[in-house]
Amino acid sequence: MLIGDVHLQSPFAVAPMAGMTDTAFRRLVKRHGGCGLVVTEMVSSEGLVRGIDRTLEFAEFTEEERPVSIQIFGGDPVKMAAAAQIVEGMGADIVDVNMGCPVPKIAKHNAGCSLMREPEHAASVIAAMTRAVKIPVTVKMRAGWNDTEKNAPTLAKMVEDAGAAAIAIHGRTAAQSYSGTADWDLVAGIADRLAIPVFGSGDCIDAEQVVARLQSGVEGVLVGRGVLRNPWILAQAADLAAGRTPREVTLADRGRFLLDYVGLLLNERVREPEGFRHSFESRIPSPESRVPSPESRSHDRWVINKIRALGSWYTKGLDNGSHLRTAINSTESIDALRELLGKFFGVVGEPVLME
Ligand SMILES: Cc1cc2nc3c(=O)[nH]c(=O)nc-3n(C[C@H](O)[C@H](O)[C@H](O)COP(=O)(O)O)c2cc1C
Repeated sequence: MLIGDVHLQSPFAVAPMAGMTDTAFRRLVKRHGGCGLVVTEMVSSEGLVRGIDRTLEFAEFTEEERPVSIQIFGGDPVKMAAAAQIVEGMGADIVDVNMGCPVPKIAKHNAGCSLMREPEHAASVIAAMTRAVKIPVTVKMRAGWNDTEKNAPTLAKMVEDAGAAAIAIHGRTAAQSYSGTADWDLVAGIADRLAIPVFGSGDCIDAEQVVARLQSGVEGVLVGRGVLRNPWILAQAADLAAGRTPREVTLADRGRFLLDYVGLLLNERVREPEGFRHSFESRIPSPESRVPSPESRSHDRWVINKIRALGSWYTKGLDNGSHLRTAINSTESIDALRELLGKFFGVVGEPVLME
């Protein structure tokens, strides 16, 4: 499949998830296969334009994640165009616009899903961005703001006309947040009417659902929470779509994934070869940088907090998952965390540290 001139080897993608889809997580999912595209956590256009370190870090990625889409949020066409140029300068394959975030902190600044309430303005943001960059500009939206403003079909066409190269739709309204179910009929209807690729998003928690959604008429499927519960879901969906038996994932595999994630997070900014990370060139690391310095104890704390955040999804549906969750949440050191994970999942041997 093509988004603009970017080739995706699989129609299955990792959805953007703030706090979750960091570069280490994306790398690991990608290594397990079946993943055609990864999208970063949402990044503030304002922060990019002002060169704020914490913001720039959210946009960093590594070569093995390609193709990579960096998702930005904001509502000012001039700043969004400038942010898109920064993203392009970092070497991203695609720049994606968040028109789906319902969180008031974002929506009240004329960004996220509140852009859906001003379709003309939203289209002008896309037009400004497509004029400013050569890489494809894509949009991720919801079904609408609420039940009476379910305007994704109209807005999707408007942003297509403004130059968007693909669209992803989470089939819930902002008012629904995560309640109810995603409206995949609405998404398939939009896919039918648009010439550009349309991705659907929402409620795929096993590989069979991912494939069934693809067959419902969309060009691609973005999987969010399902990947946090099962990072192999895209690989299994690719197996199914190719007529193969989906690969089995053992408890030890699941443990190894978490231990590898711990390893990659501990390694963030340590012993990285030059050029390993695509980052903003003029960036001057600041002391309050989001990833604490590798020597500091707060780096360990940051890693533990990341495992806690993933653990709250990853342990769902596991036998004794709630016990593991509680145990992870009371872990105070990396050694204790590794021991806990090794024992729970029956992982034998030392974790393999992957660059
Ligand atoms: C923890 C979390 C963070 C999210 N952050 C973002 C985000 O930064 N940008 C975005 O467009 N969507 C975000 N989403 C929405 C997902 O990309 C996805 O559309 C939604 O969760 C529905 O898909 P799912 O049922 O497969 O999770 C987030 C969802 C979750 C659960």
